[in-house]
Amino acid sequence: MVTKIPSDALVFFGATGDLAYKKIFPSLQAMLKRGNLNVPVIGVAKAGWNLDQFRTRAKDSLEKHGGLDPAAFTRLCGLLRYIDGDYADVATFQALRKELGAAQRPAHYLAIPPSAFGAVVEQLSISGCTQGARVIVEKPFGHDLVSARDLNGILLATFDETRIFRIDHYLGKGPVHNMLYFRFANAFLDPFWNRNHVESVQITMAEDFGVQGRGAFYDATGTTRDVIQNHLFQVLANLAMEPPVRTDSESIRDEKVKVLKAIATLDASSIVRGQFRGYRSEPGVATDSKMETFAALRLQINSWRWQGVPFFIRAGKNLPVTCTEVMVRLRRPPTVYMASNERPNYVRLRISPDVTIAMGMMVLSPGDERVGVPAEMIASRHPRAREMDAYERVLGDAMHGDQTLFAREDYVEEAWRIVDPVLQTKTPVYEYEPQTWGPAEVAAVTPPGGWHNPSLAA
Ligand code: BG6
Repeated sequence: MVTKIPSDALVFFGATGDLAYKKIFPSLQAMLKRGNLNVPVIGVAKAGWNLDQFRTRAKDSLEKHGGLDPAAFTRLCGLLRYIDGDYADVATFQALRKELGAAQRPAHYLAIPPSAFGAVVEQLSISGCTQGARVIVEKPFGHDLVSARDLNGILLATFDETRIFRIDHYLGKGPVHNMLYFRFANAFLDPFWNRNHVESVQITMAEDFGVQGRGAFYDATGTTRDVIQNHLFQVLANLAMEPPVRTDSESIRDEKVKVLKAIATLDASSIVRGQFRGYRSEPGVATDSKMETFAALRLQINSWRWQGVPFFIRAGKNLPVTCTEVMVRLRRPPTVYMASNERPNYVRLRISPDVTIAMGMMVLSPGDERVGVPAEMIASRHPRAREMDAYERVLGDAMHGDQTLFAREDYVEEAWRIVDPVLQTKTPVYEYEPQTWGPAEVAAVTPPGGWHNPSLAA
């Protein structure tokens, strides 16, 4: 039975880990400041710590990530509890059961490697901690289609789907949600948002930094698993989905799944992988690693709206800028006015670092009325700083039982189905110079008119 009653305790496993340090404590403080957190927060980890050490860790985290608010921190300390113990030890879960006390609807947040999910879920169930509970799980949700199915099996054996919240923090980003609002709250877009008028769509997620000490994780993961199969497929689904018939979570998630279902499984000719020079010297990375730090993909969506329109996704580490941007290029007009080297109209949606919605067009040059010049109309542009952090949003939503911003079982499995064959086939990995737009071989997967390289000046 779906309840939208808020969770009355938050338990997070992996409480002394990196994610808690960088994201969870800052989100908890932000929730408190907004008046959205007033339940016990129980950290679980095996670090040999006590509650005071755990509070010190929280303080340190807030000082380094987003700023400590002394009043909010004092209140947070009042809510924090800590259980030190092994995830394989029954005593850890008995202690948790005791700490939960009268809580009837805890939310268990598994900020731990997926390999530990099975043991934790089983122990939660045995110890009586799953009654009325929700479970929140971190990405990566599996490593491929088979492992994702296995994970779903583990979770669904204890929790029904309405109580499972698979995090993709990209969905918690305001600008990603704004893509849907922009598409469906405006009438002017719909007539051209289809195969008749759109020539191609490209999504670029560029990061100007390397693997930042996460070499071991990254070398087992690579770009396709790290950000394309999840974050960028969500962006793609927002661009391509049909308007939902209602705005409840299932109507929206149904439409997203339909987009993925219409995408043909990728083959080796639709992907180019790259690796930045110097990656193999990163700590934790194999010296002969073939893992990609860059990937460019071409996808076909075989739906009524999109058949024949190529969609391109490109992502990578150590590229020239940090920016996520979408470019929807329209077909050229049937006119003799336009020279072949002039660029067609487009819609540009920037998701980060700032949030921009812009449209490109041609106008006559004011200086020389015989030549056309490109002009861009910026509909909206604002810095990111004012927004609610993605983790704060998704944690709050999960604790309120709202599943809209979480990946459903069928969605994650479809997403893996699309990339699975190319993950299994070891396609070549080409070296590229750091701070460039990837290897020259990317030419094999390039949109009509070329890749649009985001510039922070634009
Ligand atoms: C994470 C990836 O999921 O998303 C990272 O593991 C990536 O490699 C990050 O840098 C990007 O997210 P954001 O919100 O920092 O742009």
